[in-house]
Amino acid sequence: MSRIAYVNGRYVPHADAAVHVEDRGYQFADGVYEVCAIVDGLLIDETLHLDRLDRSLGELRIASPMGRSALKVVMREVVRRNRIGNGLVYMQVTRGVARRDHPFPKGIKPALVVTARAIAPDKIEANNRNGIAVATVPDIRWGRCDIKSVSLLPNVLAKQAAREAGAYEAWLVDKDGFVTEGSSTNAWIVDADGNLVTRDVTNNILRGVTRTSLFTVAKAAGIPIVERRFTVDEAKRAREAFISSATGYATPVVRIDDTAIGNGQPGSMAERLRDLYLNAARAGARP
Ligand code: PDD
Repeated sequence: MSRIAYVNGRYVPHADAAVHVEDRGYQFADGVYEVCAIVDGLLIDETLHLDRLDRSLGELRIASPMGRSALKVVMREVVRRNRIGNGLVYMQVTRGVARRDHPFPKGIKPALVVTARAIAPDKIEANNRNGIAVATVPDIRWGRCDIKSVSLLPNVLAKQAAREAGAYEAWLVDKDGFVTEGSSTNAWIVDADGNLVTRDVTNNILRGVTRTSLFTVAKAAGIPIVERRFTVDEAKRAREAFISSATGYATPVVRIDDTAIGNGQPGSMAERLRDLYLNAARAGARP
């Protein structure tokens, strides 16, 4: 079956899907994106993702390409046409197409691309069963990491450095030695008292939708959460560590650089949170 993409009003074969050479996303990374997981055909945390999309657009003063209900129809149509049971839907909005010039052009329409792809559930399960390693790298990003911008070069370099070091994810470390977040995930530890610890949200990190949903289920289950920064050293001595993202939920970290975390096996808190999260997400999702 051939894949289908939505590009500026048309459903086209994925192989032919293209944007203009003067799309500002292509020339300036002048755009934003969202990734929403699909689990058993359900769009997970859809409202939170669309809320964050609106926020990112607002912060950059890019107009919405369409109303929310129309966008929801497009997302479902892309998922349906690609027959995705488990995977993700990707949405990207750029400021639009104009002659290359840095200031915002007048009178252009934002460009919208929506794609979807399958992810084999075994792949996610293997990471959760075995845990993953992370490598720490300096955080060299800009001052507005709260915006889900397509400008991801530092994240790309960090992820590549991690992979070359034999790790799955990079943890970005600020100039004071504190972990900000992963290259495409939020970073968490469990302290000696069993508190969940994750960095407070400023302009330095993305407010992960999964992070928000994990807060909700943890609070409901009476699991204490502390929002504060932590150093790499503290993380290495933590009882547990894990990462969160739309497509990975809560994935245990079993090694940071050369240090095994806890007993070197996936922790029970990450597993518990993942179960709580997936049950709640399924219950709250609308077909
Ligand atoms: N990444 N931090 C960063 C820098 C991210 O890029 C992401 C998401 C997250 C987790 O956010 P959420 O829980 O909403 O997925 C945190 C997506 C999945 C990506 O770039 O593919």
